[in-house]
Amino acid sequence: MEYLFARRLEGMRRSTIREILKVAEQPDVISFAGGLPAPELFPVDAVRAACDRVLIREGSWALQYGPSEGYTPLREYLVEAMAQRGVACRVENVQVTSGSQQALDLLGRCFLNPGDVVLTENPTYLAAIQAFQGSEARFVPVPTDDNGLIPEALPELVAKHQPRFLYTIPNFQNPTGITMPAERRRALYETAAKLSLVIVEDDPYGLLRYTGEHVPPIKALDTEGIVIYASTFSKTIAPGLRVGWVVADRQILDKLLILKQAADLHTSSLDQRVACEFMTSCDTTAHLAQIRASYGTRYQAMDAALRALLPERYQWTHPEGGMFLWVTCPEGVDTWPLMQRAVEHKVLFVPGCDFFPEGGGDRYMRLNFSNSTPERIQEGVARLAQLLRE
Ligand SMILES: Cc1ncc(COP(=O)(O)O)c(C=O)c1O
Repeated sequence: MEYLFARRLEGMRRSTIREILKVAEQPDVISFAGGLPAPELFPVDAVRAACDRVLIREGSWALQYGPSEGYTPLREYLVEAMAQRGVACRVENVQVTSGSQQALDLLGRCFLNPGDVVLTENPTYLAAIQAFQGSEARFVPVPTDDNGLIPEALPELVAKHQPRFLYTIPNFQNPTGITMPAERRRALYETAAKLSLVIVEDDPYGLLRYTGEHVPPIKALDTEGIVIYASTFSKTIAPGLRVGWVVADRQILDKLLILKQAADLHTSSLDQRVACEFMTSCDTTAHLAQIRASYGTRYQAMDAALRALLPERYQWTHPEGGMFLWVTCPEGVDTWPLMQRAVEHKVLFVPGCDFFPEGGGDRYMRLNFSNSTPERIQEGVARLAQLLRE
């Protein structure tokens, strides 16, 4: 049978990361490939207790269909949580989503007609490329430097391509680990406001800062309603809960709600209540402090091992938080075939080309440090260094 699949699938690829993760399940393989949090830091007991309390207190509500906007007490909690991040908003500005990945998918459907342009960092988050490809987007990369996107490049790109929005990850970017400083965020916001350019600010990692000062989100500057902010509990509680959220102008959320209803009616009633119960009744400050300390130690271990073991002329970023760093290999190295050989050396990374929507990126690799102990990091970098020397 020759199936006639939709045109939107033509440009879409399966994620290399998901393919690599199948190999990563073997115990003797050290994987720096996935974007996985440290499972030993998942608050399993606290989540179980939160789940028990929810089911005892309001079991039938937790198992019933719920409102598409999200569970109201969770939205109320998110208003407070956003205020702590420097963003003033109201309950009606908060839409709960099934992970922030769903937020990206719905935003793509909300703004993009086939062939419309999205401006992105280059490289950018692989699954955002996939999400927007689902709406048949075209991608135009914005030039970047060590501080992220360069706002001065926007007027020309906007005039030329009339993008529907700019997608950015200002904190500990996936894949580079780069953080956009406050002045750059302001310049970006002001330029975008002048151009009436919508900004989608994706912030899954903002609370995972292990060094340096918190930088308020771009959304905190937003007096015009041009910034759409997305975040998630995946990195602060656990990705298995699939609870994320969007903060945006009501006009945008009215449209998003229609798409949310079409996609899945609502985010799991049980997951939302468990996330809310955990966030409002557990010692989340201590929990987050533990994650930050552990990821800081793991980053240090990876940085030290790279310094000690990698051949000369390799460079990498020095993120202040998050879960990844980004290695630049010398000219001529192609990390795609290298990754195939890395599998034989029982160490995994993601080749850079996956993160460049318009191709290129052969000499880069993304390394995840949150999912391996310092000892495994040391051993994994040694295997990688051995491979690179060969
Ligand atoms: C930049 C970025 N955005 C969104 C997501 C999706 O997170 P989730 O759907 O688990 O909330 C991730 C996950 O790794 C990410 O790195």
